[in-house]
Amino acid sequence: SDAARIPALVVGSGYGGCVAALRLAEAGVDVHLVELGKAWDTPGTDGKIFANTTTPDYRSFWLRTRTKQPLSNFLGFPLDKDVPRHTGILDAEEFSGITVYQGRGLGGGSLVNGGMAVTPKRENFGSVLPTVNADEMYGVYYPRANAGLGVATIDPNWFETAECYQYARVGRKHAQRSGFPFLFVPDVYDWDYMKKEQAGTVPRSALAGEILYGNNAGKKSLQQTYLPRIKATGRVTISALHRVTSVTPASGGGYTVVMEQLDTAGTVTGTKSVTADKVFFAAGSVGTSKLLVKLKATGALPNLNNEVGKGWGDNGNVMCGRANHMWDATGALQSSIPTAGIDNWAAGGAFAEVAPLPTGIETYASFYLSITKNPNRGTFSWNAGANKVDLDWQTAWKQPSIAMAKTIFDKINAKEGTIYRTDLFGVYKIWGDHLTYHPLGGAVLGKATDNYGRLHGYPGLYVIDGALIPGNTSVNPFVTITALAERNIEKIVATDL
Ligand code: FDA
Repeated sequence: SDAARIPALVVGSGYGGCVAALRLAEAGVDVHLVELGKAWDTPGTDGKIFANTTTPDYRSFWLRTRTKQPLSNFLGFPLDKDVPRHTGILDAEEFSGITVYQGRGLGGGSLVNGGMAVTPKRENFGSVLPTVNADEMYGVYYPRANAGLGVATIDPNWFETAECYQYARVGRKHAQRSGFPFLFVPDVYDWDYMKKEQAGTVPRSALAGEILYGNNAGKKSLQQTYLPRIKATGRVTISALHRVTSVTPASGGGYTVVMEQLDTAGTVTGTKSVTADKVFFAAGSVGTSKLLVKLKATGALPNLNNEVGKGWGDNGNVMCGRANHMWDATGALQSSIPTAGIDNWAAGGAFAEVAPLPTGIETYASFYLSITKNPNRGTFSWNAGANKVDLDWQTAWKQPSIAMAKTIFDKINAKEGTIYRTDLFGVYKIWGDHLTYHPLGGAVLGKATDNYGRLHGYPGLYVIDGALIPGNTSVNPFVTITALAERNIEKIVATDL
């Protein structure tokens, strides 16, 4: 067909997609950045762009008529409620044995995440990305990513007195009394703004419980960092509410990219196609894996190799809560932005974030998201009968994660004389083992692609997101996703343009 021809198209606008779009545009390449979700630049009738976690509404979930909140219950009561179906910000995508939470919108996961911006310990990097030169990553690309994302650490003096971090100080006390190293975790939240929230001089965001459905202030998502720089180049066309459905070699060279335009009810209102010399898959670990598996199986990209769809992991995510004694109140006012972690990675395979439980009332609960060294890996495959991509994960595959998290919390409970909460994930259920926030892998670096994300079999096709990372980063993943993307795009700009 006579589709419009462009030099580069980027599928998805999370960390990988934003890095690709910015660096290509800076190198003088015109880019079309295509994003499935909304632009999230227009306030709703309440004057706010994003909904609060305490009152989910049409903005909160991706094409659901009922919320699917990560913490499904409280004191035994189910929390979920009906909402109008809308192209909302948080996708709770269900596969067999696991719900994978992902951001939908311009900025991808940066819109919904906790902003915890953690560089893995150098000694663990060899197991995170075994084929990547660690000297280059720690010398150049991790610093570049941290600077570009606006990463900073809480003022430790302020931490000692801030009411909103009482829960984290209780977490520290319990960790240290059991002999675990406790460390501050950097974040992209604006800490000066956080101080003003605590002082009551600005509208509250983190201190009003905003996080999962977006932050109306304070958080430096990609909308505050990479995206303004992308727009300032003048070379990037952005299409929000567009879903890429096909990429296939074009007759005159390059690739024909087919995309559907959606309305905010999720209805397809049109289909477009363009021809791009280069296509960068940055639809996230799940989005990129699903696209590539489907395109290989259905004959659009038959020469992709058999590594496509493999090596998917959940970053070992598992959640739990502990019930504290009455003298260890965690505070009615809790910042939704975690700021500290318990490191038992070397000894027990677990790194636990001390997470908030911002209910607005005193709960006497300590809540944790553990990242563990879970060795299990899933595979995406094409289900021709159902016309969709499946993932073969099993809930039982989280058992290693639970065992690793217990190396921290069984010890703390024994020391403190406390027990696990059993009311947060259902009725009498201790472990939040049904979900992940950190999908990784599915088009692993050096396997489905070469060592810079070039897909085997198709010159000009690249993967540049969390799909490259083989299932685990030992800490929260987005700094590593960003740093790897910075490394790969630098090479691609230097050698492939
Ligand atoms: P990402 O998922 O960010 O972006 C992919 C984009 O592609 C999305 O915007 C999607 O809508 C779009 N897309 C998908 N399919 C498409 C298609 N067919 N066509 C067009 N567009 C398409 N990490 C961390 O380091 N610290 C933290 O504190 C947290 N906290 C956290 C909380 C919650 C609730 C979640 C859900 C996640 C986190 N994370 C996190 C994880 C982090 O957000 C995640 O690892 C990154 O966003 C992944 O970056 P990517 O660039 O790989 O994809």
